[in-house]
Amino acid sequence: MSLQSMTAMLKRAQANGYAVGAFNILDYNSMRAVIDAAEEWRAPVIIQTSVKTVLFWGYDAVISWAKQLTLHATIPVAIHLDHCTDIDVIRKCIDAGWTSVMIDASTKPFTENIRLTQQVLDMTASCGVSVEAELGAIVGVEDDIHVKEQEAHLADADQAVQFCRELPIDCFAPAVGTAHGIYKGEPKIAYDLIEEIAARTGVPLALHGGTGLADDVFHRCIALGCAKVNISTQLKYAHIDGFVNYHQANQVYNPLKPIAAQYDALKAAVVENIKLFGSAGQA
Ligand code: 13P
Repeated sequence: MSLQSMTAMLKRAQANGYAVGAFNILDYNSMRAVIDAAEEWRAPVIIQTSVKTVLFWGYDAVISWAKQLTLHATIPVAIHLDHCTDIDVIRKCIDAGWTSVMIDASTKPFTENIRLTQQVLDMTASCGVSVEAELGAIVGVEDDIHVKEQEAHLADADQAVQFCRELPIDCFAPAVGTAHGIYKGEPKIAYDLIEEIAARTGVPLALHGGTGLADDVFHRCIALGCAKVNISTQLKYAHIDGFVNYHQANQVYNPLKPIAAQYDALKAAVVENIKLFGSAGQA
């Protein structure tokens, strides 16, 4: 099955009350772990790439891994660019073969956010690439976007409705109280806001800052309309710990062994989330 956009998979998830996991990959090994986990559990899945990861490896390398790894896949797989503020990078990803992009103009004034998101929609109109956009400010660090606690603010419901009315986006990421990175305390999730935005816009919502949320928080957010859940930090930990723990325990200078252990750790983390989000068996 070839790579596809997020549009149909998120609509289906929204209609059936589950969420598709969007997993930030770092390299070939992590991309392989995500796709293999999803294939084994028959789950639609989103391979998510940060701008830094794309620029580190190069557009052609990342897209070629995705094409090769999905050559025999029997589940829907999308490759999505996460939190991008740079239109030029978005254009290059689309040209290279990404099937989905996120324009993050959430730090800009509302009208500028609309203008930049529209610019991306104009770029994707003829090529079937799905678009995610953000409103409000999600606390934490994601890629090169740093939002301090005092700067974070939730999305405004009326602005969210206007945003989604003016822009035919495929996925909407309003700030609803979650955070990128490790939670310092109990997150205060604005469930009422999720419910209101989901009901008034009808657009599948993305839940950012998935790492560290409790199972019941996921279940509640998904039931209210979050059809995409982003996981990054958990996979960064699995990536490092999977490799380092193996090496510390075995001290063997055969890199393929810790790389295999890293793959196992990443795959286990992805499987845990796929089951939690209800996407297992949905492909
Ligand atoms: P975490 O790093 O908290 O899992 O958040 C991921 C995310 O939202 C990526 O956009």
